[in-house]
Amino acid sequence: MLPVTGYVDRWSVRPGETIRFMISSRGAQPYRARLARIFCGDPNPKGPGYRERAMPCGIEGAHAGAEQPVRPGSRGFVPRLDLATSFSVALTLKPTLLDEAAPQTLLQWQGLSASLHLWIEGRQLRAELASPAGVTRAVLGRALAEGWQDLALARDAAAGVLTLASRPRPDSYGPAPRIAAVETSCPAASLGQGQLMLAASLQRDLSFSGRLERPTVYDGAWPVAALLDAQAGGAAPIAPAALWDFSEGIGTDRITDRGPNGFHGTLENLPTRAVTGAAWSGRHHRWTEAPAEYAAIHFHADDVGDLGWAPSLALTVPADWPSGLYALHLETAEGRDNIPFVIRAAEAGSQARVALLLPTLTYQIYGQYPRREVTETSLPRAEAWGALVEPAHRHPEYGLSAYNTHADGSGVTITSMRRPMPDKRVNQIHRLDESPEGSGTYWLAADTYLIDWLDRRGIACELITDHDLHAEGVGLLNRYSAVLTGQHPEYHTEETRGAIAEFIAGGGRFLYLGGNGFYWKIVPFQGETWAVELRRAEGGIRTWAAEPGEGYHAFDGSYGGLWRRLGKPPQALVGVGFTAQGEYRAEPYRFTDAIDDPRLAFMRAGLEEAVPGTAFGERGLMGGGAAGHEIDRTDKALGTPRHALVLAVGLPQHASFEPANEDRLTQEWPGAREEIIRSDITFFESAGGGAVFSVGSMSFIGALPIDNYENLLARLMENVVRRFADPTPFPWPLPESPL
Ligand SMILES: [Fe+2]
Repeated sequence: MLPVTGYVDRWSVRPGETIRFMISSRGAQPYRARLARIFCGDPNPKGPGYRERAMPCGIEGAHAGAEQPVRPGSRGFVPRLDLATSFSVALTLKPTLLDEAAPQTLLQWQGLSASLHLWIEGRQLRAELASPAGVTRAVLGRALAEGWQDLALARDAAAGVLTLASRPRPDSYGPAPRIAAVETSCPAASLGQGQLMLAASLQRDLSFSGRLERPTVYDGAWPVAALLDAQAGGAAPIAPAALWDFSEGIGTDRITDRGPNGFHGTLENLPTRAVTGAAWSGRHHRWTEAPAEYAAIHFHADDVGDLGWAPSLALTVPADWPSGLYALHLETAEGRDNIPFVIRAAEAGSQARVALLLPTLTYQIYGQYPRREVTETSLPRAEAWGALVEPAHRHPEYGLSAYNTHADGSGVTITSMRRPMPDKRVNQIHRLDESPEGSGTYWLAADTYLIDWLDRRGIACELITDHDLHAEGVGLLNRYSAVLTGQHPEYHTEETRGAIAEFIAGGGRFLYLGGNGFYWKIVPFQGETWAVELRRAEGGIRTWAAEPGEGYHAFDGSYGGLWRRLGKPPQALVGVGFTAQGEYRAEPYRFTDAIDDPRLAFMRAGLEEAVPGTAFGERGLMGGGAAGHEIDRTDKALGTPRHALVLAVGLPQHASFEPANEDRLTQEWPGAREEIIRSDITFFESAGGGAVFSVGSMSFIGALPIDNYENLLARLMENVVRRFADPTPFPWPLPESPL
């Protein structure tokens, strides 16, 4: 647990509105808070240096601390379940962390004076029934197997017996599985009304990792063979008293009881739904076509959804605070943290014609990305620079990023913003950048180069977020002449991508200032972006892949994966799209002959060096140059507009660069090195007077601050931004356009 940390209830807030900070301090230590407007979030003394402005306000000062609960692990809670004195329970499961030493609860029922606990420990199935008449424990002798299996428990009050049994589903060629069962004497006692928790215990964690399907309760003690047969598709001995059918409400956090009493429940911490169940035939890949084949839920002991912390501080933004990036700094005797957020203009476009669209959806997908091997080596430098030094890998309790796999090896598909994300901060570095002026920044800390640069150049800019864009659509962008992205706008919803396309088509000016952008599709949870879902289906450079049959989103039933696979390659949106990836290294660009095109006269203005062959971006704070790490190319076959101009090309030479997987089918590269390992700086106009300028490199904006923002790349960019901010339409149709 971090000494002090927290999260906000919203990424952005307007003057007059209130933002709430949920703060937890270890051991309920008192903490101090102060607020600042952030200009440069990079602590590197070789760059512009960390820069903020104090914003005195009422929530500053000392506060009594509270330690707020962190209880990872997804689970299902049923507030009421009545158990008959004689009853049976059956369950289908696929455990995925069988060798975990800690107990894993499958279900726990708690009544007023009795309780039932069914769990796995040391690969063995165990049950405990406790009542005033005594405690009965049962342990199944045969170890549980990998794969799908059915479990049954029957309590016969008249006979005074509790029976526990399991039977694996058949594998390809083995003998028909037999039932393993154990009988224990069990004193009679009435059970009655209680609460049920699935995949975790009610009082403690003991979380289960794996898939559960069809938890079923019957009145009366039935032969375990009949119970197991019913789980595997046979006839039930009688109509169930309760049966939670997980194929119902797959896009929600509700679980439905098909029994007569309607003992419905809710899911906590967002387990993964729309996963294949024991009955998956392989003939269906879209769960909406065959929900019964997707009647399982994959619970993970390390799932984190909404931590549900109590609000600690609330700030109502004063009317005269300008739009920008802000952070609440927190400090106790043991450590510190900061919680960044955006203040928007009260009315979009009232303070500036330029907006910086912070890629908050990408921050959230990457939120809490433990990479010990990358981060650990940067900590001495972070300490020397006065930066934050609490890396994500030391705090797995706050959940994982969608780059991680769960402890059981399955990919993390859902990420929430209702939890601390201590690696999406300002005054933070993420890796040891060995280049001469290297910072090792990423995400938010890198995106502040744009804020710092625009402020120093006196170019007014409002900040908005992906979350705002998802909620408000193209109308938000239309308030501005020019919209800039950050360094890595990789993840988009149908809504955010669509709004950007509409903005450009309608005459907007768009500056894509990153790399590997507009790459993956994500889907919000019931329309709300506090939680988003990702399915890494088909292709793409990725740290895990969607399992067979699981390419469709649980949240809305749509197909997931690369926008390119969905008929919307990034080239069709912004001219360039992901082509190659290498180490965190970057190299210069050179102007092409296209820089002489009359359409680019505004870009060259005052820049005598801007001629074909001239290099720029030879130095940078991110990998030592401007073209690097993750880079994009034009490709007319993938939708780059035919009239696009590639005005500069960067050709990283480092041996670590490899083509994107989706381009590479065999051991052969899809083209010559210079066709693949390239970043194309691209410009094109759109009908209605709009224009797009795309850099296609994750390192690009790290080259802006070199020599105090006085360098050829920065001056070129200033020409572009000033022209894009000018509402005068770009000429259209083009003078010599074939269109
Ligand atoms: Fe990425």
